[in-house]
Amino acid sequence: MKKRTIETIVEIYSFEELEASKQQLINKAKEQVLKAYAPYSEFHVGAAVELENGEIFAGSNQENSAYPSGLCAERVAMFFANAQYPTVAVKTLAIAAFTNGKFLEEPVTPCGSCRQVLLETEQRFEKDITVLLYGSKHIFQLDNVKQLLPLCFEKSSLGS
Ligand code: THU
Repeated sequence: MKKRTIETIVEIYSFEELEASKQQLINKAKEQVLKAYAPYSEFHVGAAVELENGEIFAGSNQENSAYPSGLCAERVAMFFANAQYPTVAVKTLAIAAFTNGKFLEEPVTPCGSCRQVLLETEQRFEKDITVLLYGSKHIFQLDNVKQLLPLCFEKSSLGS
């Protein structure tokens, strides 16, 4: 038997430590929580995506009375961006979540389905996406989506 350790590197920043463009994207994600449609969970999530061409797209979670029919903020924002610019890589993604009258103190972390979708975009354009997970106490930064989904199922897993 052999063991393998898989490491995820998370950088932890205060908001003030981040460069202006990252602060701006986080603020965009924070603004988006106001536009969430989350009457069932009352968990309001905002996501903002910056493309390599400088365009910014944002989204919020959209729930439905048939619960699985709803969609997370990350996928709303990412599909929106990819649908408008199908040939432009994504540079940065920021996520924020608001519930019980305040933003989460600890950084919000994307669900498994979102990780899978975000990874496909990263691999599709062969360009790392910087991920910013906002919390009011601190912000986690990851260099790419792959860090969030080790041992993933990907295009190459389908074989030939
Ligand atoms: N949600 C997101 O939009 N993004 C996440 O990263 C976690 C969960 C949404 C889905 C659902 O509308 C609500 O938050 C509660 O799970």
